[in-house]
Amino acid sequence: MPIAYIEDIARHEGEQVTIRGWLHNRRSSGTIHFLTVRDGTGFLQAVMSKANVEPDVFTLADHLSQESAIVVTGQVRADSRAPGGFELEVTTLQVIGESHDYPITPKEHGIDFLLDRRHLWIRSERQSAILRVRHEVVNAVRDFFNSRGFILVDTPIFTPSAAEGTTTLFPVPYFDLGTAYLTQSGQLYNEANAAALGRVYCFGPTFRAEKSKTRRHLTEFWMVEPEVAYATLDDTIELAEQLVVAVVERVLDKRSRELKVLQRDTSRLERVKTPFPRVSYDEAVKILHDRGVNFEWGNDLGGTDETVLSEQFDRPVAVHRYPAAVKAFYMEPDPERPELALCVDVLAPEGYGEIIGGSQRIADADLLLERIRQHNLPQEAFEWYLDIRRYGSVPHSGFGMGIERVVSWLCGLDHLREAIAYPRMIYRMSP
Ligand code: 4AD
Ligand code: MG
Repeated sequence: MPIAYIEDIARHEGEQVTIRGWLHNRRSSGTIHFLTVRDGTGFLQAVMSKANVEPDVFTLADHLSQESAIVVTGQVRADSRAPGGFELEVTTLQVIGESHDYPITPKEHGIDFLLDRRHLWIRSERQSAILRVRHEVVNAVRDFFNSRGFILVDTPIFTPSAAEGTTTLFPVPYFDLGTAYLTQSGQLYNEANAAALGRVYCFGPTFRAEKSKTRRHLTEFWMVEPEVAYATLDDTIELAEQLVVAVVERVLDKRSRELKVLQRDTSRLERVKTPFPRVSYDEAVKILHDRGVNFEWGNDLGGTDETVLSEQFDRPVAVHRYPAAVKAFYMEPDPERPELALCVDVLAPEGYGEIIGGSQRIADADLLLERIRQHNLPQEAFEWYLDIRRYGSVPHSGFGMGIERVVSWLCGLDHLREAIAYPRMIYRMSP
């Protein structure tokens, strides 16, 4: 019998096919079993009537428990009452691997119980839909940059120094060379790569020893970071909004089934079009004050401030020119107001907060050295980074987009931990 995948089932209407998967759920009456089978690509109702199968097969199905690995063969039939529009009229069933007392039952479980069993939890309809959306986001990102002339240059994970502040570094003993740190961002290498290749991006795991327990922070997350030689802050804001729109459109187009499983209100995502509103930090402070938020000019925006701000708009908002003092050492000062940095944070709507952080980078070697010293960073470790300014320095800009933040927003999750297969957080590093 031809083997079919559930996601392609519509193409097999009227045919006999074999589905290889697992039993998700079973309802039985005396003469009929309704088996919900999942095969990784989807869920399908397989109907086994006593009259259509051998008696021992019917009895076998009587005792099948959740997550037993089964192979079923039967005819594909369109049925408007079936969940996916099709069902399988079963003629044979084979048990490949038994499953006893599967711990995740259809009843409600606590989050820690589920996270301890994450390796099984990902089999659920909801969790597998999220992972499928994530896959689409990652591919949309790659296609976006690859189709625009960007070159992928992978940056190292063991690094000798901090890229984003020294308080969130993960140290790793590194042979006789002392301490290496897990990368917080590939940006510094991206800058060298942009001077070599023009338009580049890196895309991989990044690490932050975030000691706070929030729903927006993981200690290991994936970030895509483009960097463009000769690009200004405005250029980078434009690139960022085009990327976000491309990703949202792709997921709406290709993953509507998954968004439906997640009960996502897609009308909010359909409004995500360019141009995004652009708000300076000064204007953002004013908006916060008008909304009655007690916020002091000069501070960084916190999670709740971001939520209040993003609630004013129906699409992501680009907040630019924060005070340099609350931002990273490498940001170019605004020539008109040097106390501000030429930087941008893109905040997602619906309270999802910052999804993108970026900036124009300091082009002048002396200023950069001054900032390295002000931030108490070890100069030797940054000599190579200063070289980018010593040999043909140009204005250049880029940003980083956190994949879990985007997945969480697009799927409407209330915590980043469900946006990655195996989340790493302060109190969790297993399974
Ligand atoms: O704003 P961040 O710290 O910027 C950088 O790392 C720059 N070097 C990027 C660049 O310009 N090339 O981080 C960028 C994005 C954030 O907007 C957020 O989406 C995500 O990375 N992010 C996190 N995601 C999950 N958990 C965390 N702890 C995160 N920290 C940052
Ligand atoms: Mg940031």
